Amino acid sequence: MYTSKISGLGYYVPENVVTNDDLSKIIDTNDAWIQERTGIKERRHIKKGDGNSTSIMGVKAAKIALERANIPSDDIELIIFATLSPDMYFPGGGVRVQDMMNMSTIPALDIRNQCSGFVYAISVADQFIKTGMYKNILVIGSENHSGGLDMTTRGRGVSVIFGDGAGAAVLTRSEEEGKGILSTHLHSEGAHAKELSLEGPSTEYWVPEIIAENPKDNIPYYPYMNGQFVFKNAVVRFSEVINEGLQANNLTATDINMLIPHQANLRISQFVQKQFRLSDDQVYNNIQKYGNTTAASIPIALTEAWEEGKIKEGDIVVLAAFGSGFTWGSAIIRW
Ligand code: UT7
Repeated sequence: MYTSKISGLGYYVPENVVTNDDLSKIIDTNDAWIQERTGIKERRHIKKGDGNSTSIMGVKAAKIALERANIPSDDIELIIFATLSPDMYFPGGGVRVQDMMNMSTIPALDIRNQCSGFVYAISVADQFIKTGMYKNILVIGSENHSGGLDMTTRGRGVSVIFGDGAGAAVLTRSEEEGKGILSTHLHSEGAHAKELSLEGPSTEYWVPEIIAENPKDNIPYYPYMNGQFVFKNAVVRFSEVINEGLQANNLTATDINMLIPHQANLRISQFVQKQFRLSDDQVYNNIQKYGNTTAASIPIALTEAWEEGKIKEGDIVVLAAFGSGFTWGSAIIRW
């Protein structure tokens, strides 16, 4: 059986920096609250007219990843696109990427697993490569959160956390034993679907109903998050799924060279770091600069860690995510 290796990485974030102080001018919030609870100092938001969208940012990240992989886009046989904030209700972002990158009629698959989207996406890609069906797969995580946040005090518990951006990876078939993606581990728990969700407009709650009800408080078309409940579940599931991945490969926490947690909240990453007794060098966080970019957060962080020389050949790299669904997952990689 083949294995998949990450042959190229790239990311893109919009130029427009939005600091906590910027937010405090339009929302009743402040830098101290945001930093203390989340670690976030600033995030990027698409600016109207800057030419970005979820799929366009995905293309920008993908082009960098392809260049670094030294693979022409014609060699890509499958696009997997993870997002919770697609340009359109349908079709998904994958086909838009395909069109913008002038790719042939290769399949484009969209993944709807929110903060776990990238881990789910590389797991799917890994299966296609392992079975020999494809040799090169482009995996993208991209989010335009700012297009759909409640930027008033009513939405402050959610809106200060999220940022825009995209990350991409090229997965390539490898025949090197014991290297590349060693295993992936995926889970979900639909009982908590509504604890972090955006309900409408949807087929269950369509535009005329929303207009007729004219809701003022529980606004269905903005994201809802039961923050503390999500936090409590996140710390448990992150730890479980990292342990599951380590055990499956006969590894222990001391073998981890780099943990890239989904950038949900710096406090969650720090909690996990402590649980596994990892040093600051063994965990990569950049939520301070970008906020939580959902499906894009892991590929952006992975790319930055790699660019900074923090990931070396032979290293054990662990990706772990938790988010809406609830969904969670991990990937254990020997670089
Ligand atoms: O990536 C997907 C997974 N997502 C997560 O993992 C997020 C998990 N949850 C969290 O990170 C935290 O729950 C939050 C950072 C979202 C919120 O922190 P919290 O400590 O759970 O705050 P809270 O929602 O319990 O709110 C505490 C207080 C409330 O005021 P009162 O009722 O105590 O007077 C809120 O109204 O803080 C208030 N508050 C704010 N104050 C200033 C909520 N948002 C803000 C804000 N600025 N932005």
